[in-house]
Amino acid sequence: MAEPALLDLLVLRKHFGAAPVLEDVRLRLQAGEVVALVGASGCGKSTLLRIAAGLDRDFTGQVRLAGQVVTAPTRDIRFVFQEPRLFPWLSVARNVVFDGESAADTARVAALLDEVGLAGLGDRLPKQLSGGQAQRVAIARGLFVQPKVLLLDEPFSAVDAFTRLKLQDLLLRVAQAHGITVLLVTHDIDEAVALSDHVIVLDSAPGRIADEISIALPRGPEHRRGQPDAAATIAEVRHALHAVHAV
Ligand SMILES: Nc1ncnc2c1ncn2[C@@H]1O[C@H](COP(=O)(O)OP(=O)(O)OP(=O)(O)O)[C@@H](O)[C@H]1O
Ligand SMILES: [Mg+2]
Repeated sequence: MAEPALLDLLVLRKHFGAAPVLEDVRLRLQAGEVVALVGASGCGKSTLLRIAAGLDRDFTGQVRLAGQVVTAPTRDIRFVFQEPRLFPWLSVARNVVFDGESAADTARVAALLDEVGLAGLGDRLPKQLSGGQAQRVAIARGLFVQPKVLLLDEPFSAVDAFTRLKLQDLLLRVAQAHGITVLLVTHDIDEAVALSDHVIVLDSAPGRIADEISIALPRGPEHRRGQPDAAATIAEVRHALHAVHAV
């Protein structure tokens, strides 16, 4: 029998009005796994993440975390969006603790900022940060409440290519250090293969799981980027995507 999943996502049906968006989607993430979700624009990736976060209850199915049904947003499951969504009037440090309870825990905030490469920038305002730095604050905020699962919706799409690679490394490093399970939506196939243990390919209208590709390569982007084995896996994912999203 399969191990019980940490996050068990079952969406039998999700629709907006008459339009079916997701159908028969079952995703199980084991503790500590990194799973990437890819699929054409509009196929339902963000919708699935919102359901996983307990932000959308209007669907047929069930979200379970460690066996418990999730019916509302919980601090065990945190969301990092495409854009950092920082509060412009709050300092970096205050943004990190925003939805935590221990706002006075300055030592932990400082340690987290250090971990994401923002040591000493806690007093800055968001407007004084670069895009990549702002997204690091968003990641630190996602980590602050020590969630079990981090959901990320195209988190690095607004930054330049070099910053993107640095943030990918950072994400994997902090996820491993904190034992966090990751579900990452991305349009970047290289990113999906560099970071994840499994790549899920979604079909569209309605979104269903069309393919699941396990990445049988040593973990960590440093072992994957530019490697011939990774190139073969990238080609496999691209092929799977083209198969369901033929243009
Ligand atoms: N609140 C809403 N009301 C009505 N339709 C919606 C709503 N949110 C999303 N949709 C529709 O549901 C479908 C899935 O949207 P979703 O945002 O999940 O796609 P996506 O895979 O994240 O796309 P992208 O890659 O462009 O971010 C789309 O057809 C979208 O237009
Ligand atoms: Mg989306």
